Amino acid sequence: MSNFAELNYNGQSFKLPVVEGSEGEKAIDISKLRGTSGLITIDKGFKNTGSTESAITFLDGEKGILRHRGYSIEELAEKSSFIEVAYLVIYGELPSEEELRKFKSDITHHTLVHEDVKSILDGFPSKAHPMGVLSSLVSSLTAFYPKSLDPNRSVEQINGTIIRIIAKLPTLAAWSFKNRVRQPLVYPNNNFDYCSNFLRMMFSLPTEDYNVNPVVAKALDKLLILHADHEQNCSASTVRIVGSSHASLYASVSAGIAALWGPLHGGANQAVIEMLEAIKADGGNVSKYIDKAKDKSDPFRLMGFGHRVYKNFDPRARIIKKAADEVLESLGIEDPVLEIAKELEGIALKDQYFVDRGLYPNVDFYSGIIYRALGIPTDMFTVMFALGRLPGWVAQWKEMRENGDPIGRPRQVYTGHNERPYIPISER
Ligand code: CMC
Repeated sequence: MSNFAELNYNGQSFKLPVVEGSEGEKAIDISKLRGTSGLITIDKGFKNTGSTESAITFLDGEKGILRHRGYSIEELAEKSSFIEVAYLVIYGELPSEEELRKFKSDITHHTLVHEDVKSILDGFPSKAHPMGVLSSLVSSLTAFYPKSLDPNRSVEQINGTIIRIIAKLPTLAAWSFKNRVRQPLVYPNNNFDYCSNFLRMMFSLPTEDYNVNPVVAKALDKLLILHADHEQNCSASTVRIVGSSHASLYASVSAGIAALWGPLHGGANQAVIEMLEAIKADGGNVSKYIDKAKDKSDPFRLMGFGHRVYKNFDPRARIIKKAADEVLESLGIEDPVLEIAKELEGIALKDQYFVDRGLYPNVDFYSGIIYRALGIPTDMFTVMFALGRLPGWVAQWKEMRENGDPIGRPRQVYTGHNERPYIPISER
């Protein structure tokens, strides 16, 4: 088989190398095309453009496959823990017992944040969305760890930054919620595991003991695993492109959080519950909303449906759907919104509009239902996604730096005015 693709343009032929990934994925390398032909490629939204080579996550949207470092998401969700998956995603291999013990211990001992973070938090109005607060607080870590700004730090020093951000994000996330509800902050406690500590900081008060419900902690751990990485999505690409200018890990992750916030990306989990509640408040007429989603003159979309890459099913959604049933049953919760979700899913999956476009429930469709059952408020849902996605952002940033990827700088096709003379204001 030829390792070249040929492009014919204007009577000339250009040979372009074809690169192949370890799962047989093929890509035409156009990096030198402009130099030889004067042509660039255009692909709005990067729908068919590989921005990098990566060994972290493999995703086949047609077959519904998702693997991290070669391990299937189904197996990881069933057998692993979030901290172990974080190690795997970031460092490339499953940890030995000793490596995992040390990783957990390092994380546990860095959960506390500088006292001055509290004064930054105090500056936010209580109405501030926790995603905005979280993004700002993560960016503020550069002020507390200014050496993290040095792009040429040693592997050990970079590792220190990685440990700090993984350790501190749950504290910052829980505090952004406490700011929202104007409750006193709860400090991290080294006797608790990652998820339990987060739940404690979210739901307890400094003056009280807190018994973590193991069902809730386990469900949260699984949800975080399911969000750990998802190759070159909007926020991961943001983290890589910000980091490609040699910006620090904290600055890059802060940008990733902002990218995740939007309702077309991580913000969809909040938007799903808001949509389901709106349907319920409107009398529960699901068909009306299916029709609205299909109507091109109506901007309404079924939130939690569709995916840029998955066109058959989202493997994470399957696992989450099952987990949602288990959590609701073991916590004895009956959620009328879940009934609307099931009805909506049932109708949409049979409807030709959705079938033709490969629109299936995605990870965000059911995650919000679990978060609700766990007692997590709606505007914290995307923060939960951020907690889960952190290992992926870290791994993408680390890989990009280790591979020496160049600064991200796309080109464009200019469609504005040609050169024209300046007109003095008196003559306009
Ligand atoms: N409801 C109704 N129609 C839809 C939807 C939807 N949720 N999603 C896509 N379509 C239609 C769209 O109108 C278009 O139709 P046509 O071909 O007739 O113009 C077609 O399907 C293709 O849509 P697209 O917008 O070109 O596809 P995309 O790959 O650019 O967008 C998406 C992917 C996820 C942004 C989109 O499906 C969407 O807006 N979904 C709702 C938001 C959502 O749930 N986002 C979470 C994604 S999963 C979590 C994550 O990883 O971020």
